[in-house]
Amino acid sequence: MAVLPIVLYGNPVLREKSQPVAIDQSTKNFVADMIATLKDAQGLGLAANQVGKASRIFLADLSPLEPAEDVRVFINPQIIETSGSMEYEEGCLSFPDIFYRITRPEFVTVRATDASGKEFEVKADGILARVILHEYDHIDGKLFIDFFSPMAKEMISGKLKKLKAASAA
Ligand code: NI
Repeated sequence: MAVLPIVLYGNPVLREKSQPVAIDQSTKNFVADMIATLKDAQGLGLAANQVGKASRIFLADLSPLEPAEDVRVFINPQIIETSGSMEYEEGCLSFPDIFYRITRPEFVTVRATDASGKEFEVKADGILARVILHEYDHIDGKLFIDFFSPMAKEMISGKLKKLKAASAA
């Protein structure tokens, strides 16, 4: 297991539409590295392209908020259904120090495969639903800033420029 570098806004991999993966040993090893990376960053979620690989894999880990929670692995996920609407403040490991309240569905049903190759379905609400929707967007190359109002984008434009410059360096 290795902690991988997290790519920041400005890296083109964050805009890539990720591809489905086979559940083989290399995928399992990669997932183990993703888990180590997320735990190290103490984030709630991580998508594969945030560590530079455009694969349809993401993690959700509520343990920073609820210590009894385990990390959840979603490989080749499919959103089956969403409903409701909720405003919640989001951050993103690829956008340090940027937080913004975004409205997304309150409930989501997602089907995916876990790291052992088992298919599962989860009906999520609250923060877990929020993390799943945010991470699912990542693997489609979509970012939370895409939901920002023009005024909010203007307010963070300086921070975005700095991130872009840092990731080009
Ligand atoms: Ni994110």
